[in-house]
Amino acid sequence: MPHANDTLPPPPFKIKMIEPIQLTTVAERKEYLKVAGYNIFNIPAEKVYIDLLTDSGTSAMSDYQWSGLMLGDESYAQCRNFFNLETVVKDITGFKFVIPTHQGRSAENLVCYALNLDKTKSAVSNQFFDTTRANIESVGAKAHDLVIPEAYNTLIHHDFKGNMDTEALEKLLTQKSNIVVIIVTVTNNTGGGQPVSLKNIVTVSKIAKKYDIPFFLDAARFAENAYFIKLREKEYSDLTPKEIAQKMFSYTDGCMMSAKKDGLVNIGGFIALNNEKTYTRIKERMVITEGFPTYGGLAGRDLEALARGLTEVLSEDYLKYRYQQLQYLGNKLEKANIPILLPVGGHSINLDALRFLPHIPQSLFPGWALTIALYENYGIRSVELGSVMFAYQKEDNTWVYPELELVRLAIPRRVYSREHLDYVCHSIIELYKLKEQIKGLKMTHDPGLLRHFNAIFEPIAK
Ligand SMILES: Cc1ncc(COP(=O)(O)O)c(C=O)c1O
Repeated sequence: MPHANDTLPPPPFKIKMIEPIQLTTVAERKEYLKVAGYNIFNIPAEKVYIDLLTDSGTSAMSDYQWSGLMLGDESYAQCRNFFNLETVVKDITGFKFVIPTHQGRSAENLVCYALNLDKTKSAVSNQFFDTTRANIESVGAKAHDLVIPEAYNTLIHHDFKGNMDTEALEKLLTQKSNIVVIIVTVTNNTGGGQPVSLKNIVTVSKIAKKYDIPFFLDAARFAENAYFIKLREKEYSDLTPKEIAQKMFSYTDGCMMSAKKDGLVNIGGFIALNNEKTYTRIKERMVITEGFPTYGGLAGRDLEALARGLTEVLSEDYLKYRYQQLQYLGNKLEKANIPILLPVGGHSINLDALRFLPHIPQSLFPGWALTIALYENYGIRSVELGSVMFAYQKEDNTWVYPELELVRLAIPRRVYSREHLDYVCHSIIELYKLKEQIKGLKMTHDPGLLRHFNAIFEPIAK
């Protein structure tokens, strides 16, 4: 089918059920923001018109998945849906052991426990997602990010901006003997959903073997990553997304997955791995946190929906549409000279708040201010990946601000149409013209860890 960059071919599905959404007035939204302490996470979802807060747990399930819910076997132990999920996950990942969890962060928590992470140990990643970092740091361990330097420049085009800097990895491993796990996040959510090449995964795998360190994938968006490999790494262009995914996992020792993304479900996750000792430790631990190892905090029906979602997500038609949807929005914004992170990633468009609002210093949270302005003026909810989420205070009380100050517009899977994306695009273009009117904010309550969820703000007067 012909496809110019500024058109979007129809999706490979049609709509069978709808959920009404409502656009409130600017005056109403000003009031909601005041009540919410200027924290977008506190805004009732019904007061949001287009919700791009996250692509996590927000997918629309298919009729095949919904029908699977009716086949939920709610037996406490060894329910049939576990075996269905196990079969699908083993087929895609090739790992021996599969453990469901209720979402990604519980999988991370169990892996950190099983690997005995503590204050004497470290873990390294291309870029840790915030919950993974929090799980590591909460037991006192150190989390090192070693993504390639290009990832920190929003203007540079690079096919695989999520790649690990493998030279820096080798250097770190020769200097530090306390690294107990390497985790590559595919795609790299923190860096704007940027993919990791298979070549990079192979190199990391070789290094991991050389230093005898377990190598895991944070596989939340493994299918989107596989599709980028198909498009951008010539030697794999004839393989199906599933064959590429199988290759990606084959170079690793295990994975953790928040299935709320490429599992196409609203809740769920899993760990899959080969090491029997680690598996046993996880199984024994999870009975006091997640539940019995064949349900992992999920209902039988959830396991079934996930087994079916993991099959559907690898459909090439679906992945192509998903890719084109993101390109469509990204290209339109780029053409209008809106400062966005380039190239467009797998699940989100990311506004570069430092270039969008150069008059607001990072101490007054330009990314956060942009999320507030988008909601106040247009009812669009986005999320800041910037100074609220990542800035930290050193021992001498000075603040270290992140290199990137992004506002992520995460596109839920199979939810919004081209018309919704056009509304988002026009709103951002209009807001860019009014950018001088946007002011920074002062944080009046700082909750410490994962502070974006609970921080409270006040707009500054000038
Ligand atoms: C890359 C990545 N890893 C882990 C997680 C955590 O998953 P969950 O929200 O299911 O706990 C997320 C969530 O957004 C993520 O994007």
